[in-house]
Amino acid sequence: MGLYAKHIFPRLMDWAMSGEEFQRLRSELVSQASGTVLEIGLGTGLNLPYYSRQVTWLHAVEPAILLPKRLAQRGKNALYPIDITRISAEILPFDDRTFDYAVSTWTLCTIPDPVRALQEVRRVLKPSGQFLFLEHGRSEDDKIAKWQDRLNPIQNIIGCGCHLNRRIDQLVQQAGFSTTELDRFVMQTVPRLGGAMYRGRAFRGD
Ligand SMILES: C[S@@+](CC[C@H](N)C(=O)[O-])C[C@H]1O[C@@H](n2cnc3c(N)ncnc32)[C@H](O)[C@@H]1O
Repeated sequence: MGLYAKHIFPRLMDWAMSGEEFQRLRSELVSQASGTVLEIGLGTGLNLPYYSRQVTWLHAVEPAILLPKRLAQRGKNALYPIDITRISAEILPFDDRTFDYAVSTWTLCTIPDPVRALQEVRRVLKPSGQFLFLEHGRSEDDKIAKWQDRLNPIQNIIGCGCHLNRRIDQLVQQAGFSTTELDRFVMQTVPRLGGAMYRGRAFRGD
């Protein structure tokens, strides 16, 4: 991992993704989770302060080590045990039907094989389990979507693997989930290329 990916990008990401609008969106989503919870792509732990008392165990998977001191600080007051496994979400080391909830925020843009990861998330959810997601992706506005396509290769480099133009709803569907709630909106404090949002709730669908 180069200097930029190891030292500069995590700080930029942490700063850019901890603003007021991000915090509000994170807390609204993450606070819905309860019981045993899986978070994919923990990053610098920006969601940790928003999990509720109803969470009994949080297991996070994250392949990179990003700002470990900030991560520890954010998890310090958690009322639930936290386990972090340094792996990619495409192969999850958990038994089938383990989790009540799975959570993903701004992660499906970066996972190299998002459908594979989502299939794994679906596998480890209980039959009644729910997958909560809050992700940026392809815009509904054709002009912006075209610019997302053009600039995607550059974003891929500066965003350490991030894609601007993924259809998150289609990825969730391709993995076999049935999506019961999907809200598409545009973030106010983010440039429009990266602010087209997909927020939803999906079930195993079997
Ligand atoms: C833009 S950051 C978002 C971090 C965090 N989810 C948040 O909301 O602040 C994308 C995250 O996805 C992680 N990631 C990349 N590839 C991954 C993979 N294969 N499995 C799980 N996480 C991955 C990155 O290391 C990074 O932490």
